[in-house]
Amino acid sequence: MSGALPRIGVAGIHGHGATHVAAARGLEASGRARLAAVADHRPPEADLGDVAVFTDATDMIARADLDVVVLSTPMHTHLPLARAALEAGAHVLLEKPPTPTRADFHALVGASERTGRAVQVGFQSLGSQAVPFVRGLLADGAIGEFTGFGALGTWLRTESYWTRAPWAGRRVLDGSSVVDGAVTNPLAHATATALAVAGATAEDAVSGLRLDLHRANAIEADDTSSFVAGLPGGRTLAGALVLTAPRRSEPCVIVHGSAGRIVLWYTLDLVQVSTPGSNLAWTTSHARTNLLANLVEHAVAGEALLAPLAATGAFMRVLEAVRTADEPRRIDPSYVTRAASPDGDHLVVADVEAWSERVVTEGRTFAELGAPWAVGP
Ligand SMILES: NC(=O)c1ccc[n+]([C@@H]2O[C@H](COP(=O)([O-])OP(=O)(O)OC[C@H]3O[C@@H](n4cnc5c(N)ncnc54)[C@H](O)[C@@H]3O)[C@@H](O)[C@H]2O)c1
Repeated sequence: MSGALPRIGVAGIHGHGATHVAAARGLEASGRARLAAVADHRPPEADLGDVAVFTDATDMIARADLDVVVLSTPMHTHLPLARAALEAGAHVLLEKPPTPTRADFHALVGASERTGRAVQVGFQSLGSQAVPFVRGLLADGAIGEFTGFGALGTWLRTESYWTRAPWAGRRVLDGSSVVDGAVTNPLAHATATALAVAGATAEDAVSGLRLDLHRANAIEADDTSSFVAGLPGGRTLAGALVLTAPRRSEPCVIVHGSAGRIVLWYTLDLVQVSTPGSNLAWTTSHARTNLLANLVEHAVAGEALLAPLAATGAFMRVLEAVRTADEPRRIDPSYVTRAASPDGDHLVVADVEAWSERVVTEGRTFAELGAPWAVGP
């Protein structure tokens, strides 16, 4: 890179992409980079001054002479756009999940190696200092021998959420995989963060995956899911990832130990440590580095990436298993109720919060635990 400020281009500026535009503006304000271009099929709502505006990411990548490209577009566009950006010489911040298939993931890892350009994946919780802090606690024996991990997310999604975009809730769109279910998309951060805390990020770190995928909504993908994965050292990761809860609770990663438990509230950067004999958890709050800022520092000064593509291999293994699994089982409507929220109606599965808590504390799936809506008649 020359001495000039790194030039950032953001593709997909509505939806989640708005946060990347704001982050690029923040870097501009602190004199570390410049927002040079944006691209979206829908024009920007605000006047962006001298920022070049494109209607398609491909055009922006080809014409805007960028050092860093942010891709916050739907998942099925990730591989072609990321590859084009790498081949144009840019580093890429690619929104999660990185790609819809493991084969695409391998192709992207290859493109990154071939071009010598980095791909950072938008798992923003991996920018939190809470993750290395928990790893340090485990290494120091703060909860004794750690035996297992949990990834817990119980959220609600309105019925209109599933109709907001053609790819929403689909497993396949126009012949391409999109895998837009609870495990792989809205609550993907829970699994990715748990794997990072466990130090199990490489592709071969996950084995013997038992998936238990269900759906209450009229969608193809899963909205009420659990899984148990084998990790190195005989440990397990149990996930309960649900979009059919009566409320949105903060999601967390749990580590079970022989002498206590750690809970990482990964959206809040909070860590709670509970040990036998104390009634209240010891709680600490941690700083977080923005992933775009980290990628810019990588481009300028070779700083290590916080969420590099290669470290999402284990997550991609889970995604691939979900992609190639049988269709999620439809939950019998007698276990589903409709509830109102300020954003619209949403479906609630009977006792799903309690069953989810059991998944992550007992290390068994909904069906293995005998949740009536998971085992069928
Ligand atoms: N990290 C997070 O917390 C987080 C949160 C939400 C979404 N996401 C991810 O961000 C990505 C986008 O999700 P979203 O919910 O914002 O989707 P969205 O459909 O709301 O927005 C995507 C935007 O991309 C634009 N777009 C699509 N193809 C384009 C192209 N070829 N060129 C330029 N613009 C294009 C669309 O017009 C739209 O404005 C997905 O990968 C999603 O999983 C991440």
